[in-house]
Amino acid sequence: KATPRVRKLTASLIQHLHDFARENELTVDEWMAGLELMNAAGRMSDDRRNEGQLLCDILGLESLIDEITYKLASEAADEPTATAILGPFWRKDAPLKEMGDSIVSGIDEEGHRTWMHGVVTDFKTGEPIEGAVLDVWHTAPNGLYEQQDPDQPDMNLRGRFTTGKDGTYNFYCLRPVPYPIPYDGPAGKILQALDRHPYRPAHIHFIITAPGYKPIVTQIFDRNSKYIEDDAVFAVKDSLKVDFKPIQKDPKADFDLTHDFKMATY
Ligand code: DHB
Ligand code: FE
Repeated sequence: KATPRVRKLTASLIQHLHDFARENELTVDEWMAGLELMNAAGRMSDDRRNEGQLLCDILGLESLIDEITYKLASEAADEPTATAILGPFWRKDAPLKEMGDSIVSGIDEEGHRTWMHGVVTDFKTGEPIEGAVLDVWHTAPNGLYEQQDPDQPDMNLRGRFTTGKDGTYNFYCLRPVPYPIPYDGPAGKILQALDRHPYRPAHIHFIITAPGYKPIVTQIFDRNSKYIEDDAVFAVKDSLKVDFKPIQKDPKADFDLTHDFKMATY
């Protein structure tokens, strides 16, 4: 619908696109090459691949917009949990789980098994939040999300957990690995043209929602992961770096991971 905001954004986009063409004296051949890239991204943009989003992400656009939108969620300790980009691999309707459940289905990935736990609180009062839903997803140790990998069971490494009165959560997952974003398409072509690698540091995604609170779309990053300072899609923030601590006492886990989430009311 042609609201004033839509009109403004459209006019501004046209202005910047024209400036881009003028400044660079863009030729018809170059334009055709760019068009082919956009069309290829369109053809590859299904639920499994989301190439259009991937393309914007390696250009830093989603991270920039995240920062513009959520500038209030800063790095300070007394602030709400910082946000990070959604990325192309979230799926709706992840399985609903009970606290203490595992999101690992299929094989037991020994050496990566992680017990993750913490509490969801109101960042102002410090009170625990009841009824907060943590929607979590991450890659398997082969570096693939479930929908990218025919060998993984449907919805592997995805789950939704709802907090009780004490606001705590806990579940079993895996310690993720650094992972190359799919680079056999237009996004890969651009990375190559810029001499850039396609890797993301090891990360776990979350969307946290709770009645009366602003949703948080975020990721946590393994502090010791390769590429932690050089994320292909620019999503890392200091306050989102976490430590996987090796443990022996839990026969079901190789690592312990503690992380609390702090939410802000509207
Ligand atoms: C992107 C984000 C991810 O979390 C990921 O695993 C791969 C790619 C992205 O922003 O394009
Ligand atoms: Fe990811």
